Amino acid sequence: MIKDIQEEILRIKKEKDICILAHSYVAHEILEIADFTGDSYALSVKAAGVPHKNVIMCGVRFMAETCKILSPDKHVFLANEEAGCAMADMMDKELIEAVKPHYPDYTIVAYINTTAALKTICDVCVTSSSAVNIVNNIKNKNILFIPDCNLGAYVAAKCPDKNIKLLNGGCPVHAAVTTRDVTTARQKHPGAKLLVHPECQPEVAELADYVGSTSGIMDYARNSDEKEFIIGTELSIAEHLQYECPDKKFYPLTSGLVCKNMKLTTLMDVYNCVKGNGGEEIIMDDNTIAEARKCIDEMIRLSK
Ligand code: 13P
Ligand code: SF4
Repeated sequence: MIKDIQEEILRIKKEKDICILAHSYVAHEILEIADFTGDSYALSVKAAGVPHKNVIMCGVRFMAETCKILSPDKHVFLANEEAGCAMADMMDKELIEAVKPHYPDYTIVAYINTTAALKTICDVCVTSSSAVNIVNNIKNKNILFIPDCNLGAYVAAKCPDKNIKLLNGGCPVHAAVTTRDVTTARQKHPGAKLLVHPECQPEVAELADYVGSTSGIMDYARNSDEKEFIIGTELSIAEHLQYECPDKKFYPLTSGLVCKNMKLTTLMDVYNCVKGNGGEEIIMDDNTIAEARKCIDEMIRLSK
């Protein structure tokens, strides 16, 4: 049944010149039919370069918006229109407009997990995999990093020459992990390496053997000679890795590491979307596209 739906999706997407992009947090059967999978950075770079007329994003809204900003002439669809991001929804443009006058000499660095509207008033975007490199490459010493204070604290620790100010936002899924969870997981799996996402609290990240983005964690586990890993990011990553590396063992850091937004997209949503019966086309005015694009282009420029 799943195979039949997958084959039908592959057939229709070829016929209609559709590219499917999928974040690594979505279900395995969706990753199998995607043209490209990866973390937020990899997907945003791919979004800019694919030749297809139509793109379906299997992930959350800010990812589809990023895709539309980078490819305004394409039809870009979010496979499940309800898939938002709790962190992106935490800070809107109006809030940061009110905050900005208090930081007149600061470069505003926005995590890519922000709305397109908010990006229009920020200076540069970062993703979890590119944040340290980009902040180091910014000439200004003064940085206001939004919205994730945990990723911001991680970046601040890695960029001691910068004066980094943070606001109180973050990912509720990753931020819920505690040092106690780490102790429990380490006791259960004493030989395992602990790999965590920098959206986790700094005290959790400090206990890890490796801190990195979704793709960073996956690459580390794939390439390591170690055999057991505790995975401190969304549950799906432990699952994908287990499938890919059957001779190794992967344990989720906690069973609570579930992003309900990333789990909203189903294979049937993708099927309906390719057929033209579902999903939401991202529509954005030219001014928002042009202003938000400066922020994303700056990310691509500074990450070189
Ligand atoms: P990355 O894809 O940059 O690892 O970020 C994880 C995430 O939370 C995406 O929303
Ligand atoms: Fe947003 Fe966190 Fe879900 Fe990523 S894991 S989409 S940051 S709520």
